[in-house]
Amino acid sequence: MVNKQNKELAHLLTGFRQAAPYIQAHRGSTFVITFGGEATGEGFERLVNDLALINTLGVRLVLVHGARPQIEQRLKHEHAEIRYVNSLRVTDDAALKAVKDAVGSLRVDIEARLSMGLVNSPLAGSRIGIAGGNFVTAKPLGIRDGVDYCHTGEVRSIDATGIHQQLDAGRIVLLSPLGYSPTGEVFNLSAEEVATAAAVALHAEKLILLVDAGGLRDSRRRLIRQLSLLEAEQLLRSRRKLSGSWIRHLNNAVDSCRRGVKRTHLLDHHIDGGLLLELFTRDGVGTLISAELYEGLRTATIDDVGGILELIAPLEEEGVLVKRSRELLEMEIDHFLVVKRDGMIIACAALYPYDGQVAELACLVVHPDYRANGRGDSLLEAIELRARHGGIKRLFVLTTRTSHWFRERGFTSIELARLPVKKRQLYNYQRKSKAYIKAID
Ligand SMILES: CC(C)(COP(=O)(O)OP(=O)(O)OC[C@H]1O[C@@H](n2cnc3c(N)ncnc32)[C@H](O)[C@@H]1OP(=O)(O)O)[C@@H](O)C(=O)NCCC(=O)NCCS
Repeated sequence: MVNKQNKELAHLLTGFRQAAPYIQAHRGSTFVITFGGEATGEGFERLVNDLALINTLGVRLVLVHGARPQIEQRLKHEHAEIRYVNSLRVTDDAALKAVKDAVGSLRVDIEARLSMGLVNSPLAGSRIGIAGGNFVTAKPLGIRDGVDYCHTGEVRSIDATGIHQQLDAGRIVLLSPLGYSPTGEVFNLSAEEVATAAAVALHAEKLILLVDAGGLRDSRRRLIRQLSLLEAEQLLRSRRKLSGSWIRHLNNAVDSCRRGVKRTHLLDHHIDGGLLLELFTRDGVGTLISAELYEGLRTATIDDVGGILELIAPLEEEGVLVKRSRELLEMEIDHFLVVKRDGMIIACAALYPYDGQVAELACLVVHPDYRANGRGDSLLEAIELRARHGGIKRLFVLTTRTSHWFRERGFTSIELARLPVKKRQLYNYQRKSKAYIKAID
């Protein structure tokens, strides 16, 4: 019994420690999280608790709720209907009334749950402030192909300043799928559209779509953890059969990426603690669609040798990097990742595995014109991913001038004596490089 308890505590401790870098990284970031009306049923309390916890950890949260099942129920009750023409909703007067009633009532329920603070509940003492208001300006879809979409609208603008003021004051902003026009009308909007527009306007670090469609899986039923924008577009174009809801979710994610949201997560809302696992563990439980990560990034081929040499030559001259001959580079080209833009290699990095699940990260270079834009981080992330796939547990680097960059990214100094023997034999003592290592398992 005691043993079991100890194990559980050790597990908790490990998890807590592993979450620390993510807590640090997310603090002060703005996340827009959207969930459909389905998510407000069973399990919603747990989701609310997790949202409150994320808020407590200093993440600026904008929540956008949908209300489809609640609206449908209300329409049925009122003998009204929302017609669909060309997959677009037509909201007539009776339907708008049902939408307003359903959305208003659900919103109150969500606010009430976020306000819970009973002693002994996970929200005890959290005192979360919820803000709402006329942050979303809408315009009518209007008449298209002779069909009047009445009160169905689209987002015209988001009051980013107003929302940021609320977030600055520590409040969670809750947006509904309704918008107002300067003429004083109300429009029925899609929650996903509101969320995407908000994420774009707020320059949010993440847009998180909590979906009702399970996980996105590959042809072997394995969860797809990460897609670049390009891969997501390819998946949508491919002949693979995707369900209607996944096509919609992927299109939303692609749209937000194209409009500048760097990271969009698609996550099954049924998973208990899914949000926490996605945000505070390395692998997560959803699918990340990333605009910048890996864009133009790929394994180098022999044709890239010239471009890499051009990129690294000035740094070799300066003595920042060790000289590599063309022959050596040609032989070792498979170890390299490159980022190509407009036909030019603008960044590269190499991974050299050694015995004992250790590998060296070498030759990490970003062209001076493209620095300080997160490319170094993206490359490091890609190298770490590649290393993990190859069963590597520790990554080391030798550097003379960039030690702080690596230390800020979790590398710690080690004695040269702890490097793999083969590396030590090649070590150039004149360069006096320092060694840093990072655990990546
Ligand atoms: C190190 C390097 C790859 C970073 O690329 P990048 O695309 O600018 O990286 P990111 O955009 O992800 O990070 C930029 C941040 O790192 C900081 N940084 C850049 N070089 C640094 C250095 N030598 N030491 C400490 N911090 C550094 C920048 O000031 C910036 O910080 P800020 O966001 O707080 O302003 C790039 O500066 C480079 O090519 N340097 C020369 C080659 C080199 O030294 N390689 C490492 C040896 S293998």
